Amino acid sequence: MHIFITRDIPDEGIKLLRKRKGIKLDIYKGDRAIPRLELFKRVRGVDILLSLLTDNIDAEVFKAAGVQLKMVANYAVGFDNIDLKEAAKRGIVVTNTPGDEIAESVAEHALALLFALAHRIVEADTFMRTGKYHGWGPKMLLGTDVMGKTVGIVGAGRIGGYFARRLADGFGVKILYTNRKPDLDLEKKYGAKFVPLKELLKNADFVSLHVPLTPETRHLIGTKQLQTMKKTAFLINTARGPIIDEHALVQALKKGKIAGAALDVYECEPFVACNARDITELRRLPNVVLTPHTASATVETRQAMSRRAAENILAFLDGKTPPNAVKI
Ligand code: GLV
Ligand code: GLV
Repeated sequence: MHIFITRDIPDEGIKLLRKRKGIKLDIYKGDRAIPRLELFKRVRGVDILLSLLTDNIDAEVFKAAGVQLKMVANYAVGFDNIDLKEAAKRGIVVTNTPGDEIAESVAEHALALLFALAHRIVEADTFMRTGKYHGWGPKMLLGTDVMGKTVGIVGAGRIGGYFARRLADGFGVKILYTNRKPDLDLEKKYGAKFVPLKELLKNADFVSLHVPLTPETRHLIGTKQLQTMKKTAFLINTARGPIIDEHALVQALKKGKIAGAALDVYECEPFVACNARDITELRRLPNVVLTPHTASATVETRQAMSRRAAENILAFLDGKTPPNAVKI
């Protein structure tokens, strides 16, 4: 059984795979995402592919691999990098790595971004580092309190739900949320209100995105939606970049249509925006906090993801349905 891993991942899952007899492991050891041509080469003859969200796993990759490819174990919660239709056509099983660990980490990162915006942490840090502090001032770098505010959660699944609960527990915020269906626990225990997106955008002081990227959620937040938000509101994205029309976001920020934004994901990663002008403008805006797709980047979570990817593979090899098989 030949398994190819497209990048060196934390070792717990690799150890699990190495324990199993009859597995030949091949790992790409480059310090960036595997180049496409290298992927084509290395995937040939492989039975199981352990891929990352930076790999575009499509028909070309399946063709390069050959008909023996049976499984793609994606090292991520999201699986928008995989062509599920093509996988289904070829009978290839696809798995991801959802779980409490990653949901907690991403929710914590979204909270960190929310507080960074509210308390202008990054601006203040830059202020100090560049020698601008000349003494305490009553109007200097005024931020906004989180306590008692209204938070809008777009997609209250596991990650969005954790984010909501932590905020409601600690900061007495009002929660508005959208989701495929109402979450009764969230409503009963935390007084959260299930509302249409438009109502959420109109009323929230902080809007945090937690939906997967699908054709329905691409550019879910565009000019019109940004226009609907309060001028004093902040937008946080730890989900997937293309859920926001980033050009529209840059315009909205420049024109003061919203108060600020924190992004962990981008429409044209690894670039912060899709064209040179937006890149420059986004980097210059002081009311923007940018992190490099690190919402799940904790030691604990990246190891847990490694274990989960391996457990999915081992279950598949045992002839079982992997615990995180993606429904196609
Ligand atoms: C990270 O973005 C993931 O989908 O796990
Ligand atoms: C994360 O684990 C999720 O299912 O949202």
